[in-house]
Amino acid sequence: MTPQKIAVVGLGGIGGVAAAALQLAGRHDVLACARRPLGTLGFHHPEGMAQVKLRCLTDPTEAAPVDWILLCTKAQDTAAAGAWLESLAGPGTRVAVLQNGLGHAERVRPFLGEAPVVPVIVYYNGERIAPGEVRLRHVPAPDVVVPDDAHGRDFAALFRGSLLSAQQAADFPVLAWRKLLLNIVANPLTALTRQRQRVLRRPDIRALGLALLEEAVAVGRAEGVALAPEEAASVWATLMTFPEEAGTSMYHDTMAGKSLEAEALTGYVVAAGERHAMPTPLNRAMLALLRAASDGNAQAAAARG
Ligand SMILES: NC(=O)c1ccc[n+]([C@@H]2O[C@H](COP(=O)([O-])OP(=O)(O)OC[C@H]3O[C@@H](n4cnc5c(N)ncnc54)[C@H](OP(=O)(O)O)[C@@H]3O)[C@@H](O)[C@H]2O)c1
Repeated sequence: MTPQKIAVVGLGGIGGVAAAALQLAGRHDVLACARRPLGTLGFHHPEGMAQVKLRCLTDPTEAAPVDWILLCTKAQDTAAAGAWLESLAGPGTRVAVLQNGLGHAERVRPFLGEAPVVPVIVYYNGERIAPGEVRLRHVPAPDVVVPDDAHGRDFAALFRGSLLSAQQAADFPVLAWRKLLLNIVANPLTALTRQRQRVLRRPDIRALGLALLEEAVAVGRAEGVALAPEEAASVWATLMTFPEEAGTSMYHDTMAGKSLEAEALTGYVVAAGERHAMPTPLNRAMLALLRAASDGNAQAAAARG
C-alpha cells in the first residue's frame, strides 16, 4: 500500500491510540485534528512506552483533503466535529468511524457528500491517562473489526505493522449488534446508578438487564441480523467476565459531568424498534433517563462556563 494521508479527528482514548500507533509504525502521513494543540503524545502500550511526535491542527479551516479520515470523537460530538469532516473530505477520501453504537454512516453523511464510510467496531481499550498521554490495552479479540468489503480491506491494511490489529469480518452486522447489546446494558445501568460494573451483579439489575437485552435482540432480529435466540443470556454471560471494578465509558462521562452517548446506543435500539413497529418500553424508559441526565450535565457545564 502506498503511504496514505490519514487525519485522526478526536485525540482521546481511541483517537490518541490510533494516531500514535499509526505514527509509530511510520508508514503513513498522520495528522492529528484536535481542539487543543498537541505536540508529542506519550503512548503507553503493552510493549513499553513511546513519545510520539504528531503533526497537529486545531483549526478545521486550515485542513485540506486527505485519503482517510478516522473519526474518533464520541458519537454525540459528531456534529461538532462536522467542520473537520467538511474540510478533510475531497474526491477519493474515505471515512472510518471509530465509534460505539450503530448508524455510523447516517451520522457522518450530512458532512461528507458521497464519501465512502467504513463503520469500525472498536474492541481495544484506549484511555487518556493525562493530558498528552494515552494507554492502549488489548482485549482477547482483534483491536478493531471492519466489514468484509474493499473499503474494509483497505482500512485494515493501514494498520499493518502497527501495534493495532485490524480484521475484516464476514459477519460484521452480527458482531456490531453484539457490541451494541453489551453497550445498551453496561453503559446505562452503570451511568444511571453511578456505580461501576459491580452493580450488574445485583439480581434486580440482572433481571432488568436481561429484559433490556431481550427487547433489543428482538429488534436486531427484525433488522435481519442473525442473532441467536439465546443471545441475551450469552451477552449477559460475557458481561459477567468483565471486572467488577471496571467502569464504562458512560459511567466515566457521568461522573465527569459530560454529555452521554445515549442516542447511538439505546437511541438506536428505540428508533429501530419504531421502524419495525416493535415496542421497546424498557429501552425507551432508559433513553428518557439518559437524555435527561445528559442534558442536565450539559446545562451544569454551561452554568460553570
Ligand atoms: N475508550 C475506549 O476504550 C473505547 C472502547 C470501545 C469503543 N469506544 C468508543 O470510541 C469512541 C471514542 O471514545 P473515546 O473513549 O476515545 O472518547 P474520549 O476519550 O472522550 O475522546 C473523544 C475525543 O474527541 C474530541 N472531540 C470532541 N469534539 C471534538 C471536536 N469538535 N473537534 C475535535 N475533537 C473533538 C475530544 O476532545 P477534548 O479532548 O477537547 O475533549 C476527545 O479528545 C466512542 O464512541 C466510544 O464509545 C471507546
